Amino acid sequence: MTAYNLPHDTVHTKNLSEDHESFTHASIISGLETDFIGRSLHFFDILESTNLRASELGDEGAPEGTAVVADAQHSGRGRRGRSWFSPEGKNIYTSVVLRPCIPLPKASQLTLTAAVALAETISVYLKNFTDVGTNIKWPNDILVGGRKCAGILTEMKSSDKKIDYVVVGIGINVNILRHELPGELTDTATSMYAEKGEKTTRSDLIQTLYLSLEKWYKNYLEEGFAHVRPVWNSLSAINGKNVRAAASGAGMTHKHGDEGYEEGVALRVNENGALLLRKADGRIVEVVAGEVISI
Ligand code: BTN
Repeated sequence: MTAYNLPHDTVHTKNLSEDHESFTHASIISGLETDFIGRSLHFFDILESTNLRASELGDEGAPEGTAVVADAQHSGRGRRGRSWFSPEGKNIYTSVVLRPCIPLPKASQLTLTAAVALAETISVYLKNFTDVGTNIKWPNDILVGGRKCAGILTEMKSSDKKIDYVVVGIGINVNILRHELPGELTDTATSMYAEKGEKTTRSDLIQTLYLSLEKWYKNYLEEGFAHVRPVWNSLSAINGKNVRAAASGAGMTHKHGDEGYEEGVALRVNENGALLLRKADGRIVEVVAGEVISI
């Protein structure tokens, strides 16, 4: 497999650690180097969910790149109906409104593109601190040393088979201590602080995230998924490993309630963003929508 070096030189970090950080609208805007992501910024001390607020803004016609940030969320949403642990003063919770002119079935490629940007951002901040890698678990969980450090929830509004807007919601465990994570997450989750032993200034991190997201989004729109896919595959935490993937849709080999799952060796993400698995009997199956639940 080709190894891709992430272009760290194009995403520079500033002022990496501070004990007393300012995390406000002004601290995020000052020094923001993007063209459009975060240029219209809505900052809240607390929200129900930044995805919910971003969707409302999307409905109201907010321009592409509009970003919502909250210091805490009452009801942070995770994928597949889960909640997202969102205490104040510690982490990043942000949602960005995008309006891509792409066919509806390609929307999932955007999530994979965002995962590359998020993995790049986190790896830039951790690269001098930890030997363990930053990887992606299909479709878009960001793992550090095999534990989940960040996640993405993409929600979309479409009409007449056209995308109206996409909300890319990103949660990063930044300065939370491992023992502050809820009990059910302590074995599977981590934070940048837990890996690095130093705090990260959230305003700097979010500026770097927006810059990386903008770069990869432009790249995707200009070059297509063919350009992003090898980078995603080079960052995969699962390629070559035996995995179980929960999957929605027909044709799943195993059924559990309304949901199916497939097991096999993860090969790669294909040109549509689906995960290819080689099953024990040699057949190759395509998991179109779902997530890897165990490695
Ligand atoms: C996952 O389950 O991995 C996705 C987690 C996404 C969480 C983020 S936090 C900011 C945004 N607002 C939400 O309510 N969820 C996303």
